[in-house]
Amino acid sequence: MSTEPAGFEQLRDEILRWKERRNAVILAHVYQPPEIQELADYVGDSLGLSQQAAGTDADVIVFCGVHFMAETAAILSPEKVVLLPEPAAGCPMADMVTVSALRDKRREMPGAVVVCYVNSSAEVKAESDICCTSANAVRIVESLGDVEILFVPDRNLAHYVSRFTRGRVVPWDGYCPTHDRLTPEELRRTMAEYPRAEVLVHPECRPEVIEMADFVGSTSAILRRARQSKAREFIVGTEEGILYQLYKQNPGKQFYLASPAMVCPNMKRISLEKVLRSLRDLTPQIRVPEEVRQRALRALEAMLERS
Ligand code: 13P
Ligand code: SF4
Repeated sequence: MSTEPAGFEQLRDEILRWKERRNAVILAHVYQPPEIQELADYVGDSLGLSQQAAGTDADVIVFCGVHFMAETAAILSPEKVVLLPEPAAGCPMADMVTVSALRDKRREMPGAVVVCYVNSSAEVKAESDICCTSANAVRIVESLGDVEILFVPDRNLAHYVSRFTRGRVVPWDGYCPTHDRLTPEELRRTMAEYPRAEVLVHPECRPEVIEMADFVGSTSAILRRARQSKAREFIVGTEEGILYQLYKQNPGKQFYLASPAMVCPNMKRISLEKVLRSLRDLTPQIRVPEEVRQRALRALEAMLERS
């Protein structure tokens, strides 16, 4: 699949020169445009990216993803320069929970453990007991035992993990617009079109969609499943950027997006030009106030210890 835009090689070479000069590492989420994935030192899911950010010995981290991901890197590696090439690349779901609303809810549920999906602001992480990503959410929630859990901000992931715990999970009413867009009717139509395909969906999808799937998992789990499965065709219920890795890792297999609307516009705001500019000018940098960072770090470390 040739997906490289014109001028790719020249831009790439210039980026690589600046990367060396800055002793930088380029991290990219699997929802990024193909040319960004090609350029990155590491392409992965939210958990893998935060582990890379915590472990790198580079001086500069260029984060090709959305704001909360770069912020997570800045929480984990405060001594490093963390660049987000497009500062307006946010996550609408992360914006669906605010600190004041979370504090109000906590007051209503004084004994509850607050589990915070990594798709959230540093301030919200700082108010939470433990973080999770979609790759470890089930394990984290299971490890808490028979307790009351306030799960923020994704109601769909909260609903999914509630199946695996003895505790009571109270979901926040947030959602990912890209995943929540996939309706059971649309998935049914796609399944009718490709009756032999295995159906792989992300837990950010609606509960009714999850019921219809053969496999539910984070982006890394979906990639693993596609590699290991004997099926030759797959319907994919997550953001379209993952198709690039699916095709790269599985020559001869076919992948169909469950809905053409499963595109995250924020993930597509990063471009090669912006990566070059940010490496050259060392801007825009993502910083987290130290007092917030310390508290958010506790929730992230609690997660990483159990991952
Ligand atoms: P994962 O890659 O961790 O599954 O996350 C999905 C996502 O929505 C990131 O924004
Ligand atoms: Fe946020 Fe959804 Fe985009 Fe991920 S895909 S960044 S959860 S809006």
